[in-house]
Amino acid sequence: MLVTAGPTREHIDPVRYLSNESSGRMGFEIARAAAADGHRVTLIAGPVHMETPPGVERVDVVSALDMLAALEEHFPAADALYMAAAVGDFRPAERLECKWKKKEEGGGAAVLELVENPDLLRTVARDKGARKVIAFALETADGPKRATAKLIRKNADWIVLNGASALNAPDSSVTVLDADGPVWSAEGRPKAETAERLLRLLSLGSGEGPVEDP
Ligand code: CTP
Repeated sequence: MLVTAGPTREHIDPVRYLSNESSGRMGFEIARAAAADGHRVTLIAGPVHMETPPGVERVDVVSALDMLAALEEHFPAADALYMAAAVGDFRPAERLECKWKKKEEGGGAAVLELVENPDLLRTVARDKGARKVIAFALETADGPKRATAKLIRKNADWIVLNGASALNAPDSSVTVLDADGPVWSAEGRPKAETAERLLRLLSLGSGEGPVEDP
């Protein structure tokens, strides 16, 4: 099983970068639950302050392009991919070798040119065959509609829709959708519990099982 987690960092110069608020918790909890369940787990992690769960092989990456390279290396041998990472959509057009200095006289505005990163999931899941792919989506408006469009665009089997309150928090409210619409929802539940339920998507197809709705 392959899991991605955490943010990516897109460097501007040796000491500055663009990133996001992702803590990596959801992906790490999925990796922990999967390893505890007996799966062989590889966890591709962006820069996060999280302990590697027992029995999990961890691959640390920094940028979206690093994460793509790690996915391309590990996805062929996987049966399933949980793509929980918050991948940066853009990176600086150029990474400066030395620190970006402000103008001596000060007061000037600065412009940073960005280029789009590839869609990692779309790239690797295009020819996924029988492998199961679980995407994640963080939406602040029009959630189900946008998540369903992403599921189709990225060739995922399920997509886990989160609100922005899930970022860097121990609990989250999620709705899992497949191509036909919502499958189940969990309101304000610990990520560890939601992770276990997400794992059951693989064995039961819907994620329903012993974990009861509160
Ligand atoms: N994702 C990816 N590569 C990217 C951006 C996102 O693989 N460059 C993955 C995420 O890991 C997640 C899913 O795609 O599983 C949806 O991520 P999200 O950021 O919600 O979607 P985007 O495609 O970036 O769309 P937008 O930011 O415009 O909402």
